[in-house]
Amino acid sequence: MDKDNKKALKLVFPSPNQSRTAHRSSPQALPTSRDRVRATAHSDSGKLQFSTSEIYDFTADDLLDLGEIGRGGFGSVNKMIFKKNEKVMAVKRIRCSNVVDEREQKRIMDLDVAMRSSNDCSYIVRFYGAIFKEGDCWILMELMSISLDKFYKYVYERQNQRIPENILGQITVATVHALNYLKEKLKIIHRDVKPSNILLHDRGDIKLCDFGISGQLIDSIAKTKDAGCRPYMAPERIDPEFSHKGYDVRSDVWSLGITLMEVATGKFPYPNKWASVFEQLYQVVQGPAPQLTRHYNGIDFSEEFCSFVNTCLIKEEKNRPKYQTLLQHSFIQLHEKLQPYVHPEVSAYIQNVLESMSNNGISQFTTDVQGANPVCW
Ligand SMILES: Nc1ncnc2c1ncn2[C@@H]1O[C@H](COP(=O)(O)OP(=O)(O)OP(=O)(O)O)[C@@H](O)[C@H]1O
Ligand SMILES: [Mg+2]
Repeated sequence: MDKDNKKALKLVFPSPNQSRTAHRSSPQALPTSRDRVRATAHSDSGKLQFSTSEIYDFTADDLLDLGEIGRGGFGSVNKMIFKKNEKVMAVKRIRCSNVVDEREQKRIMDLDVAMRSSNDCSYIVRFYGAIFKEGDCWILMELMSISLDKFYKYVYERQNQRIPENILGQITVATVHALNYLKEKLKIIHRDVKPSNILLHDRGDIKLCDFGISGQLIDSIAKTKDAGCRPYMAPERIDPEFSHKGYDVRSDVWSLGITLMEVATGKFPYPNKWASVFEQLYQVVQGPAPQLTRHYNGIDFSEEFCSFVNTCLIKEEKNRPKYQTLLQHSFIQLHEKLQPYVHPEVSAYIQNVLESMSNNGISQFTTDVQGANPVCW
């Protein structure tokens, strides 16, 4: 790679007026009926809402910590119980004390209302409320059984099996519907689609998380760092010369393609041994897009699934479809029709894998499985 090309690879993070939420003044984005539960901006107390009729005032003191269940680049996720009604939930705590000032906190808490609205969509992890405590943000949400990254790594690396295509079909249907809901109903673009942000519940649910407050905070923090762990980024997000009109849902479609290919094949689709960040970014921007074939990594895939993944991975943003077109794709249409029948099968499959993990002394909440982690920097 020559020097000029290195220079051309500029990491792009959104400016404040290019945030994840667009058109915030739209009545759809801010349903007035829910304004009453809006949390007080930049405060350490908030409203915890489990249903339209079950709403509590709360502070961090109302929560009992049951221990860590996960850790990401920006903080940790703990299992906690709300003492007033004994509801168990997942609490994501993002360290942002030195990054997010009071004005930014207020802007971020404005997303609270949109987040609560997302509870109407069954493909999105339920959001209960958020507070700032000592500068850190606590996001309270539904506790799911496992994230897709830990799940697939266990299946491929420990069980030496594959995730069946009917399960991949349901993961695809759930994620595309969730992304489409965020865009159409809440005017939100996700921007961080990856396996760790798709969560599974052993009752058979597949849900997307980490948009809105979490996403906005991570953007704010990322702006203060040189770079983050962004191997799922579309070429046009890495190199602005590829993009004409700023951020578009089609960048999330690319990340979905990378995610599906990783989860379906058990391997991150780019080589894992890059010498540097630049080499990795260069490959995404200058190299060919990964393509799924009918026989890949010793696994067979249907023509419809390959076609869906490869459609998401069209390198030119302008030729990559948006959700309305993706929802018409034969792979989605087929698995949408199957959904009511396979939901119990999905539940049994997830339970089975969780049971196997437990029998092997592996917790669904820790990162015991060493795996095909994409390079982070
Ligand atoms: N609602 C939840 N229910 C159950 N587990 C969760 C929930 N939210 C997050 N987790 C677990 O916590 C882990 C850490 O989540 P977090 O969002 O902080 O980081 P990440 O998505 O893994 O990575 P990154 O920080 O790079 O975005 C996840 O990988 C997941 O396993
Ligand atoms: Mg996450």
